[in-house]
Amino acid sequence: MSETRKEGERVCVTGGSGYIGSWLVRLLLDRGYTVHATVKDLKDEKETKHLQALEGAESRLRLFQIDLLDYDSIVAAVNGTTGVFHLASPCIVDEVKDPENELLAPAIKGTTNVLTAAKELGVRRVVVTSSISAVTPSPYWPANKLKNEECWTDVDYCKQKGVWYPASKTLAEKAAWQFSKEKGLDVVVVNPGTVMGPVLPPTLNASMLMLLRLLQGCTETYEDHFMGSVHVRDVALAHILVYENTSATGRHLCVEAISHYGDFAAMVAELYPEYNIPRLPKDTQPGLLRAKNASKKLMDLGLQFIPMEQIIKESVESLKSKGFIS
Ligand SMILES: NC(=O)c1ccc[n+]([C@@H]2O[C@H](COP(=O)([O-])OP(=O)(O)OC[C@H]3O[C@@H](n4cnc5c(N)ncnc54)[C@H](OP(=O)(O)O)[C@@H]3O)[C@@H](O)[C@H]2O)c1
Repeated sequence: MSETRKEGERVCVTGGSGYIGSWLVRLLLDRGYTVHATVKDLKDEKETKHLQALEGAESRLRLFQIDLLDYDSIVAAVNGTTGVFHLASPCIVDEVKDPENELLAPAIKGTTNVLTAAKELGVRRVVVTSSISAVTPSPYWPANKLKNEECWTDVDYCKQKGVWYPASKTLAEKAAWQFSKEKGLDVVVVNPGTVMGPVLPPTLNASMLMLLRLLQGCTETYEDHFMGSVHVRDVALAHILVYENTSATGRHLCVEAISHYGDFAAMVAELYPEYNIPRLPKDTQPGLLRAKNASKKLMDLGLQFIPMEQIIKESVESLKSKGFIS
């Protein structure tokens, strides 16, 4: 991807302290942008230090404390920016006790709060980070058809099965599209798969925790959560690509390939035989058709996806160097 310098352009990254957010802030600073990054607690060094250490941060990074349910806190972070990347959302694939407060409200109300602030403050374009969790689980999608950007997660199925993270991402993305249509705000969406790769923050997010658990022998297959992996740097690049290319519209599936979690686990076992990787069934995502080049829209914009083998190697080496595994 060619690097156009964006000196002087000011953008906001909600969830800037997070796993993907930190990478996005880093790449935006590298490209010359001035960045307003949001964190949940400005006094917590675990959220701030890794951002302040980035190249260019001293002069072009401002940190803002927000709560997704506090509109005024969001206004302060978005004010003065021409573009917003909305990543902040709770990311929990384990069981939750209080889905409404832990997942649904911050995801859905948080999204409408961010979009309302963007509209009010005259922001040019908003990139919303959705997920393949807004694409799958989709049990009624035709069995012989590849899942693509037209496919939506079945929220009733999620509610019946108590899988609340996909429900939260689907309802949040639908709220974003509805807002865009009704209020005339320019919105574009990225739908990443399971994101892995080098970790910048000192704590682990849900997707890197999945890999850590696999390396520790966990046999969970994430039947309703997995549809392929993707390198964290590619996810950050995808956000920048759809922001900078005004021709980019709609949803953008962002995976190096559509694959099963069993494929991923088998490759981890092959590359790292010294760990106790369980043998999982070949088809861990019943009925999911595998596909290379599934993220054609992003590839057409110039994104060359890092392959699964390299994603795994860089992820495991990062977990080692940060002391999460020996
Ligand atoms: N990781 C994946 O595999 C994956 C795949 C597809 C889509 N996504 C989406 O990508 C985005 C970032 O995920 P991630 O993997 O980078 O997770 P992460 O590291 O947990 O980042 C989530 C970010 O959202 C912030 N946040 C959460 N609840 C908030 C609230 N109530 N108010 C203000 N900020 C809040 C977090 O702040 P704190 O750090 O202070 O908690 C953090 O900065 C999310 O929208 C997620 O759904 C992730």
